[in-house]
Amino acid sequence: MPDPGSRPLFRPALADVAPYVPGRPIEDVQRETGVGQVVKLGSNEGPYPPFPAACEAIAAAAATQRLYPDPGAWALRDALSAATGVGADGILVGNGVDSLIKLLCLATLDPGDALVMGWPSFLSWRQGAGIQGATWRPVELRADGGYDLDALAGAVGDDTKLAVVVSPNNPTGQAVTPAALEAFLDRLPDHVLPVLDEAYFEYLPPGAHDGAALVAAGRRLVVMRTFSKAYGLAGLRVGYMMAPPDVVEALGRVRNAFDVNAVAQAAALASLADAPHELPHRIAEVISERARVDVALRGLGYAPLPSAANFVFVRMASPDAAGALNDYLTRQGIIIRPTGPFGAPDGIRITVGAPHENDALLAALRAYSG
Ligand SMILES: Cc1ncc(COP(=O)(O)O)c(C=O)c1O
Repeated sequence: MPDPGSRPLFRPALADVAPYVPGRPIEDVQRETGVGQVVKLGSNEGPYPPFPAACEAIAAAAATQRLYPDPGAWALRDALSAATGVGADGILVGNGVDSLIKLLCLATLDPGDALVMGWPSFLSWRQGAGIQGATWRPVELRADGGYDLDALAGAVGDDTKLAVVVSPNNPTGQAVTPAALEAFLDRLPDHVLPVLDEAYFEYLPPGAHDGAALVAAGRRLVVMRTFSKAYGLAGLRVGYMMAPPDVVEALGRVRNAFDVNAVAQAAALASLADAPHELPHRIAEVISERARVDVALRGLGYAPLPSAANFVFVRMASPDAAGALNDYLTRQGIIIRPTGPFGAPDGIRITVGAPHENDALLAALRAYSG
């Protein structure tokens, strides 16, 4: 019998898993710098409060919190089904997309299985594969920062179970074209489940890909979307997955029954109902501010990549230069995101904020002599 004391407490796979490095919270930077008015452009939240109808729903839901939430999130799933054309049995609501990523990895990946994805990209996918002790296979982005779908398809092997496309990509901002996406899906062997992470879907230009339409049309594809960005509900943690029903069913075996709290469900439901009224002008404002920030950054000698999301990515001369700029902006009370954990140590990612926040960023950059 082996000595029970020699068994490691923690799974060996975890030794290779780096914890998620989140953007810094406002209070943290306030404490460190003494700056009262900290501007947070580090986590790609939308710059506006939740929709008024969502705020009302949140207040109204407060009084019923004695009860567990609906574990099936049925009202929200039915509303999402009506909005997307995907059957309710092909929709799973989760505690943010982050949680759905982990559940999908938990349901599919064992040691010896592989997840392929572009890189630099969203680190939760890497973490999800790592937690399972599975192989994480990164595929270099194209020089313009976009996913190289030919190379991604080429990296798929017999061991591959998940092939992840993040579009628009976080942190670089590029979206794949619908034609390239469909060609990629056509190339994948049947044993591979493709995933499209559309966390920034609402910011895409007209004519861009629409993962929901592909799932509704019967494509074997998993699509992730969130209420954290354009809907202004990041604090409540609610995202959803659209997928073939067998994938939803499998995740039902590993998820927690009450993953999505009732306040979040109520807020998301109210937001969805008000989306036609509230979303277009918010999106238009972010896109117009993104153009303004892009032009101003270029005027200051930076070279932001073109973005299809609510953030811009800037490659600096070196990781040190990226770190120095981040440190300087933090001292000025402006939080941005160094992109080392996303695989781009020489980059920074700046969320497009409200006009006054973008003004503060640009004023600080004008005064920077790094
Ligand atoms: C590409 C991508 N996927 C998923 C998420 C996670 O979203 P959520 O807030 O729903 O967990 C993010 C958040 O930054 C993201 O950038």
